[in-house]
Amino acid sequence: QFASLARDHIRAIEDWPEPGVTFRDITPLLADPAGLAGTVDALAGIAATWGPIDKVVGIEARGFVLAPPVAMRLGAGFVPVRKAGKLPAAVESRTYDLEYGSATVEIHRDAIVTGERVLVLDDVLATGGTLSAARDLVTGLGGRVVGQLVLVELAPLGGRARLGTQTPTAALVTY
Ligand code: PRP
Ligand code: MG
Repeated sequence: QFASLARDHIRAIEDWPEPGVTFRDITPLLADPAGLAGTVDALAGIAATWGPIDKVVGIEARGFVLAPPVAMRLGAGFVPVRKAGKLPAAVESRTYDLEYGSATVEIHRDAIVTGERVLVLDDVLATGGTLSAARDLVTGLGGRVVGQLVLVELAPLGGRARLGTQTPTAALVTY
């Protein structure tokens, strides 16, 4: 099973970015040729069980690494959700709470056509704020989010509960 290989290549960095936090670093997994190809294959394999997909939405910054190769595997297009102020054409915005302060993400209004089947993809599911904001952007444009997919889920942070059960959610590796 690829998930166990993936787990072996994800590095734990203690006390980063602050004391008491264990950061799950996926860069060794992506630096390994078999790890990179296997990660893309495994994510695309999960997404394929959710039916046809027209667009894969990747979330800046780390979601950008995974979304385009997964989209290519699925025969889908890639759509970026970016941090505020980066996209040049007309956008929809969504602001969500962080532990301290808030963050705003944006999507081009014409990036999703009404009725399109959309996969939302990111590297990590923590509190779920980022994925739920991205999902709201897509549904606001008339897209149908068929699944929310991440490489790593940090289960104790409760993101899955915040996302609810309306839309399928999956992770390759869970801590
Ligand atoms: C990180 C991570 C996810 C998000 C998960 O992004 O890449 O996108 O946090 O957290 P949440 O579930 O609590 O919303 P971040 O914006 O910190 O950094 P990045 O720009 O490197 O992706
Ligand atoms: Mg991120």
